[in-house]
Amino acid sequence: MVNLFLLCIATLASAYPACDNSCASAYPDPGPCTGNCWTHDPSMIQRELDGIYFRFSTGYGVNTMVSPSLEGPWVDWGAALPGGSSIQLEGVDSTDIWAPDLHYEDGIYYMYYVVSKLGTQTSEIGVATSTTMEPGTWTDHGVIGLPPNDAYNRIDPNWITIDGKQYLQFGSYWEDLFQVELASPLEVSTANPPHQLAYNASLNHREEASFLFQHGDYYYLLFSGGIAGGYTATYPDPGEEYRIHMCRSTSGTGDFYDKAGTSCLESGGTILLESHDQIYAPGGQGVLNDKALGHVLYYQYYPLAAKEAGGEGDAAYTYGWNELGWEDDWPYVKAT
Ligand SMILES: *[C@@H]1O[C@H](CO)[C@@H](O)[C@H](O)[C@H]1NC(C)=O
Repeated sequence: MVNLFLLCIATLASAYPACDNSCASAYPDPGPCTGNCWTHDPSMIQRELDGIYFRFSTGYGVNTMVSPSLEGPWVDWGAALPGGSSIQLEGVDSTDIWAPDLHYEDGIYYMYYVVSKLGTQTSEIGVATSTTMEPGTWTDHGVIGLPPNDAYNRIDPNWITIDGKQYLQFGSYWEDLFQVELASPLEVSTANPPHQLAYNASLNHREEASFLFQHGDYYYLLFSGGIAGGYTATYPDPGEEYRIHMCRSTSGTGDFYDKAGTSCLESGGTILLESHDQIYAPGGQGVLNDKALGHVLYYQYYPLAAKEAGGEGDAAYTYGWNELGWEDDWPYVKAT
């Protein structure tokens, strides 16, 4: 208790605007990682057959890493789609695939992914399937048929099933985060247009990388706020770099509120994890329902040392993970 109290004083006195509600919000370090700990926009899943952990990342053909445990040793297994996506966008390299999102259903692994031109609405969401997730075994099905719209950017897909219906969350900047119903895992439903889940009215509306999951009576919407950046030459103002926000809803299809009761359509979103100690700009997160540990938050972060060295770009992005604890039906990041 004494240590926690001192830590809180130290945190309040430091540059971080953390410790907002109570001192219990001081953030613990990520769990350990050995082997290849690089990641960018990770999506993690345990294979049904053997429990092996797969970590997929943005990059050439969607990078695949595997490990017998969350801690490693993680091994680079190669590109999921070495030939790239069948989606052809003008001026976009179709092997540069972003923001994978994985789930398993009835013997098949589904991977949603993005092909996009950075900072524009020239984007498409595609889907590929495999029965093993081994590199090169993926069948690409191309676009899911999400119509373009000035309101949103078709990136950062995330799948969920709610009351027997399948949905995809998506979006980045513009009018931020949306949800669309799927007619099948391969295709959006044309019956209902996409609806907005969260919006930050400030500046250029920096919300992306949504991840929706269910726990107890609520659905929790996590998203990354702030500037993702390449973190090479210039850095965002302190507090404006990537961090992880959360909102919750009882339906999972709307009415998301933060801890303070602010609607997430009206700039709400409580911080779950942000820069602390050696961890700079955590984001691009997801939640794995681990067979042994329960809900585990995983994310990318930028090691402070890489930032202080002037930045190494995407090469420095590092995998972090923490078990989630629960208090008053809100998750918090637990020490491992
Ligand atoms: C909204 O944007 C402002 C300005 O970037 C930022 O300070 C704030 O934390 C954001 N809030 C959310 C919930 O994203």
